[in-house]
Amino acid sequence: MLILSGGEIDVSEFEWSEELKVGVDCFDSQHKKWIELAREVNKALQEEYEVDLISAAESKAQAEKIIEEAFTEFLLYTRRHLRAEEKQMRKYDFPGYEEHRKEHNKYRNLVQKIKKIYKENSREGKEKLLQFLREWLLKHIKQTDKKYGDYFPSKLEIDETT
Ligand SMILES: [Fe+2]
Ligand SMILES: [Fe+2]
Repeated sequence: MLILSGGEIDVSEFEWSEELKVGVDCFDSQHKKWIELAREVNKALQEEYEVDLISAAESKAQAEKIIEEAFTEFLLYTRRHLRAEEKQMRKYDFPGYEEHRKEHNKYRNLVQKIKKIYKENSREGKEKLLQFLREWLLKHIKQTDKKYGDYFPSKLEIDETT
């Protein structure tokens, strides 16, 4: 369990499930990967917290390195995924594109905030924002991404490298 001020995060509940399915295979697999990476960040935070309790300097540095790597990977994947969706929405002239993009931009702004807080090394701020990002991620998939589900072909081909 990750201890937060006022609550705890159960990492195990943070999983891809059928209710998150948007019906476009490539984006469903990207979402799975995205959630997995966010889970890694949560796990790393949890481990860092546990290491904090024994306060061994070497383990602490190691834990920080792990969290930094998991976080960087998560942020890079976030950027790639949002861009991939937007590219397809433009390509298919998706009517909800502008609105969807606005939501993505809000998320991008949050990511910038997180990066700043991360640098300040405030644990509480970091955890709160991560929790917020996590909630946003699941809510966005369920409520917003699903709207393009019927619009794109289920076997849509995308260039995973861009
Ligand atoms: Fe998405
Ligand atoms: Fe999206």
